[in-house]
Amino acid sequence: TAPAAVIVAIDGPSGTGKSSTSKAVASHLGLSYLDTGAQYRAMTWWMINNGIDVSDAVAVADAAGKPVIVSGTDPAAPTITVDGEDASGPIRTQDVTAKVSAVSAVPEVRSVVTALQRAVAAAAEGGIVVEGRDIGTTVLPDADVKIFLTASPEARAARRSGELKGQEAVDVSVTREALIRRDAADSSRKTSPLAKAADAVEVDTTELTLQQVVECVVTLVEEKRAVR
Ligand code: DC
Repeated sequence: TAPAAVIVAIDGPSGTGKSSTSKAVASHLGLSYLDTGAQYRAMTWWMINNGIDVSDAVAVADAAGKPVIVSGTDPAAPTITVDGEDASGPIRTQDVTAKVSAVSAVPEVRSVVTALQRAVAAAAEGGIVVEGRDIGTTVLPDADVKIFLTASPEARAARRSGELKGQEAVDVSVTREALIRRDAADSSRKTSPLAKAADAVEVDTTELTLQQVVECVVTLVEEKRAVR
């Protein structure tokens, strides 16, 4: 018989290897994949395009239900559209990155995006890997496997700069500062902050290769499947 749908939650701050790990684990196990940060970025991009001042929480809350955000869940080719338009490029700009923490701190934004995430997870028949900040704590508290990735600030800044290279000219120290500021904002917000769930397995990726992290997570999922 086919294995039952398994739900894997992978949380942690930026630059810990969350996206690379989540996509590789999903591909390896034949699961769907959802990048929840991309959904908050898509929401932020829509706000910018529609002239909404992201520091005005009331305006952001009022608009939260307007954009139609659709995520494609193939880990080999994840997609995201906003009102039918491909948003995968524009959501990675520094402008969106600088504004996403303010937008994602607004409770109305979180309830809209959380509902979307739960619907995507429920529709993924074979199971799904969902990456974010509050998946194990709030979005999918009954996930079968919960992982919390960490890494030193130096390793995280170096990885983020590597990703940004070729896209926009960036300096590692600037990336490091921006990343620390964003994590502080994401961890200290009132609604559903970045946090490790009590039953999550913490993996420090500082000294590990991507392959080692993937093997570790795949083993945890397979152990879980074996006992069910
Ligand atoms: O993973 P990322 O850098 O693409 O995420 C962008 C932002 O979205 C991040 O700064 C915080 C927010 N976010 C969130 O609040 N909750 C999630 N589950 C995922 C991301």
